[in-house]
Amino acid sequence: MIKSNNMYDLLDYHNIQNDFTDNEYVQTMKEKLVELLKSYGAYGEIVEYYMTPFAVTFVVDPDSGESIKEFKRLRVDLEVHMAWPIEIVNIVEKEGVFGIVVKRWERPLIGLRDIMESDEFINSGYEIPIAAGMDVLGKPLIFDLAKTPHLLVAGTTGSGKSIFLNDIIMSILLNKTPEEVQLMMVDPKRVEFGAYNGIPHLSKPVIYDIREAVNAVKWLDAEMVVRYNTFVKYNAKDIDAYNMAADEDNKSPRIVMIIDEYMELMYQPESEFEELIQRISRMARASGIHLVLATQRPSKDVITSNIKANIPCRASFTVVDWRESKTILDRTGAEKLLGNGDMLYSEGSAAIPVHAQAAYVSYEEIDRVIDAVRKN
Ligand SMILES: Nc1ncnc2c1ncn2[C@@H]1O[C@H](COP(=O)(O)OP(=O)(O)OP(=O)(O)O)[C@@H](O)[C@H]1O
Ligand SMILES: [Mg+2]
Repeated sequence: MIKSNNMYDLLDYHNIQNDFTDNEYVQTMKEKLVELLKSYGAYGEIVEYYMTPFAVTFVVDPDSGESIKEFKRLRVDLEVHMAWPIEIVNIVEKEGVFGIVVKRWERPLIGLRDIMESDEFINSGYEIPIAAGMDVLGKPLIFDLAKTPHLLVAGTTGSGKSIFLNDIIMSILLNKTPEEVQLMMVDPKRVEFGAYNGIPHLSKPVIYDIREAVNAVKWLDAEMVVRYNTFVKYNAKDIDAYNMAADEDNKSPRIVMIIDEYMELMYQPESEFEELIQRISRMARASGIHLVLATQRPSKDVITSNIKANIPCRASFTVVDWRESKTILDRTGAEKLLGNGDMLYSEGSAAIPVHAQAAYVSYEEIDRVIDAVRKN
């Protein structure tokens, strides 16, 4: 349950008006685009458009016989003529049409607060709602970490992974009590999560040491088995059923473990990290244990086929090349993202990824929230 929430006052508005939400400007852009398409042989009609502060998406209904591939071939030409970065995307919600996304070079921030105060977030009914960002149609991107139930995050250095992990943590701190969700954080780079030490949602201090991190994952595996046995005693098929049956003092919180750069854990001798992840991710949905694993290096030895098979949900920021994009998303495209939180979010290799701008949250906002939850 989301508390009706004056905690959101701890966050800033980053609302910035600009050309891309100016109807007249976008109208001019549309006319130019229509003309361009015509000059290439009138492939289809622009039937509507969506404005967001960071991009405008023109929805194209292609003439019969035309495919998205043919439009994709025009991308570079369109880019040159329009003088904006352009992307041709499938639009998840709409059949048969696709989008020409014109992106700003300098995109304004999409604030976490704007997403959290959206109707979609407030009325999501999700158990662990995560305010992730805004998609290229201007719709908030929100997911339920309880259902996901795990997430792989990839992207080169500076692409926006850590801010995104902070979006996840903030979504939990501002909407879930420590009795509902406990966090575990691993930060081998020792730069990101230190400030969270001492908050009631953190069952153990932030872990920096790789060997300790492996031990924490082992502990999580053991905890899963303990839970499993307890649930059996209560005849409960999963954590929700168990928490309904258990009395107030015995309820189990969900546990979310966040690892900002898990690559080194893979390389620890005899750590069995991959095996542990495989075990945990298989059984975790029922036991209420969730993993969020991030890496700079989405190569096949880090995002192995075993890990992929067990964690279908992925968020990709800019990656180095199409091979890396294929490794993380099972398709190309992430290599063309612009950085600074430009991302593709996919709930499985068969699903069309949602193209979105990740929500921004500053370290000042994070500090305010930490102070507030410490005092609660
Ligand atoms: N959602 C976002 N909106 C706007 N700017 C962003 C966003 N995410 C990241 N940035 C910008 O990019 C910078 C780097 O982001 P971040 O620290 O999340 O990168 P990273 O992927 O974790 O990099 P590294 O792998 O080096 O840790 C931020 O300081 C910020 O300026
Ligand atoms: Mg980082």
